[in-house]
Amino acid sequence: MRSVDLRSDTVTLPSEAMREAMAHAAVGDDVFGEDPSVNRLQEMAAELVGKEAALFVPSGTMANLICLLSHSERGDEIYLGDLSHIFLNEAGGSAAVGGLHPRTLCNNEDGTLNIEDIEAAVRPDNVHFPHSRLLCLENTHNRCWGSPLSLEYLENIFELTGRLGLKTHLDGARIFNAALAEDVEVSKLTKGFDSVSFCFSKGLGAPVGSVICGSRKFIQRTARIRKQLGGGMRQAGIIAAGGIYALEHMVKRLAEDHTTARRLAEGIDKIDGLETQLERVRTNILFFDLVDKRLTTSQLLERAATKGVLFLYVGNRRFRMVTHYGLTMEDIDWALKALQEVMATA
Ligand SMILES: Cc1ncc(COP(=O)(O)O)c(C=O)c1O
Repeated sequence: MRSVDLRSDTVTLPSEAMREAMAHAAVGDDVFGEDPSVNRLQEMAAELVGKEAALFVPSGTMANLICLLSHSERGDEIYLGDLSHIFLNEAGGSAAVGGLHPRTLCNNEDGTLNIEDIEAAVRPDNVHFPHSRLLCLENTHNRCWGSPLSLEYLENIFELTGRLGLKTHLDGARIFNAALAEDVEVSKLTKGFDSVSFCFSKGLGAPVGSVICGSRKFIQRTARIRKQLGGGMRQAGIIAAGGIYALEHMVKRLAEDHTTARRLAEGIDKIDGLETQLERVRTNILFFDLVDKRLTTSQLLERAATKGVLFLYVGNRRFRMVTHYGLTMEDIDWALKALQEVMATA
C-alpha cells in the first residue's frame, strides 16, 4: 500500500549513493581516535559551525546530554524553554543522569525566550540558591512549528549571557533548516554559543548520528563523558560516512522540504474541519488542529493511517506533520486528497 509518512524527518532512509559511501568508508577504532572517516566528519562539522573541534555521537539526545553535563556540576541550574526538546522529550536525562536543576522559561510562539525572563530567573550568588550555569536554545524549534531563531535575537541573547556569565548551548538538531530559512551561513547562527549539537539523522537523511562542536578544551571533556555514557563507538566510520555524504549532498535540498511543508499547510488550510496557521510555517514542520468535533483524535489518526497517511498527535486536538527527503510534491498532494476524503466522510 502507498504510504506518506509525515511523522518526522527521522523516518528518512539513506539513498543508494549514501549507502555506497558507507559501505566503502575507511574505518579504524574511533575510541583510539583512529577512524579516518569519523575524524574527517568531525573536522567538517567543526569548520561548518565555526568551532575548534567536534565529537561524533550516536544521537541528538546524547549530544545534548553530554553538552549539559560537560558545562555543569551537580546541582547547577540550567535554563530551558518549556517547549524545548531537551525538557519535553529527552527522558529527564539532565536531572536523572547529571543531577542538574532544570528551570523552564516560557517559549514564545517563535521559539524564543524573553530576554527579561532569562535575566529575572538568573540568581545572585547566595548559599540558598543553585549556581546559575547554562542557557539552552533550540534552532529550529521543533515544538514551535520548526521556527528559526534570527541573528538579531541571538545577538541580544549573547549580550545578556555575556553580562550574566551564563554558558550557552544550542540544540541545533535542524540548524541547516534554520540557516536556509534565515538565509544566513550556519556559522553565523552558531558563532556565539559555547557548544552546538546538530543531527545527521533527520532531514539530512543519514541513518545514525549527531555531532557536538565547541572549543578544543570543551570537546576533550565531552569525549570522557561520551565514554561514561557508553557512547564511545569503534569502527564508527561506517555511519560517519553517511554524515559526510549528508553534509556534501543533502544540505541544499532541505529547501525542497520547506516548499513541500508550505504546500501541505496550504492544502490543510482548505480542508473543512482542520485548521492550521499558515504564517507560522517557516521550515519543514507544521501543526494543525482538528476542530470538527464529530471526529476524535484517534479516529482521525486511524482513518488517515488506513489510507496510508501517517502523522503524530501532540495533545489538545493538535497534530504534527514533518516533510523530508523522500517525499515529493506529488506525495503531498496525494496525502492531502486522502485527508480531504477522511474529513468529508466524518
Ligand atoms: C530539536 C531536537 N533536538 C534533539 C532531538 C533528539 O535527537 P535523537 O532522536 O537523535 O536523539 C530531536 C529529535 O527529534 C529534536 O527534534
